[in-house]
Amino acid sequence: MKPQPSSPRKRRIHAWPVRICHWINVLAMTGMVMSGWGIYNADPIFAFTFPQNTTLGGWLGGNIAWHLAVMWLMAANALFYLLWGMFSGHFRRDFFPFTLRSVWRDTLRALTFTLPHKLGQYNAVQKLMYSGVLLLGLLLVLSGLSIWKPVQFSGLVWLFGGFDIARYVHFFAMSGVMLFVVIHVLMVLLVPKTLVAMLTGGKKTVTEESTDE
Ligand code: HEM
Repeated sequence: MKPQPSSPRKRRIHAWPVRICHWINVLAMTGMVMSGWGIYNADPIFAFTFPQNTTLGGWLGGNIAWHLAVMWLMAANALFYLLWGMFSGHFRRDFFPFTLRSVWRDTLRALTFTLPHKLGQYNAVQKLMYSGVLLLGLLLVLSGLSIWKPVQFSGLVWLFGGFDIARYVHFFAMSGVMLFVVIHVLMVLLVPKTLVAMLTGGKKTVTEESTDE
């Protein structure tokens, strides 16, 4: 029977493409970062290297092989997620709108532990962080392409201001993603039920008129 206009019904808090892509991305990101740290160690741009046991691949050749192999998993997953997010309306509906004012308000609330959390509805800090990490991901891919194939992507290298600067951009974009992960996981720990929903999908009641689906 067709539901009445205002009859409540249940739907998943996180649709399956979001959950599958999210967890594949966590795996892929871990592989990319650990193998990337190994590659960095072979020719550091700062006065430090990453501990050997936080790297993946054992030696430079292994680090690079892992980095390039996991890159394809990450790229395919990201492409699917981005296309699905755009065409299903997920990004438009769940990541926007947010304003500087709402981000500031929700940051203050988060810092004073008074930020209410409604499952399935992102606060302004989350909206900013999720949109921001997607942009950082784009920067990682573009700077990564520049240092992987500088001849083929010479236009991109030029846009970054040269090979060496593209390396710095790649490093700082990785650091930005790491900062995101630390804050993101801390926020999840503050509201652990969000983790259950990201694993199982969860259920929320919506009415037909709801626009936040
Ligand atoms: C072990 C590490 C991680 C855990 C436990 C975790 C957990 C979660 C949870 C519980 C949510 C849903 C939040 C809510 O409903 O309020 C979420 C959403 C999200 N996470 Fe993570 N996350 C992790 C790592 C990452 C990483 C590495 C990235 C990307 C670099 C990431 C990007 C995102 C994004 C973009 C969303 C929003 C997804 C969407 O609605 O499309 N997460 N995460």
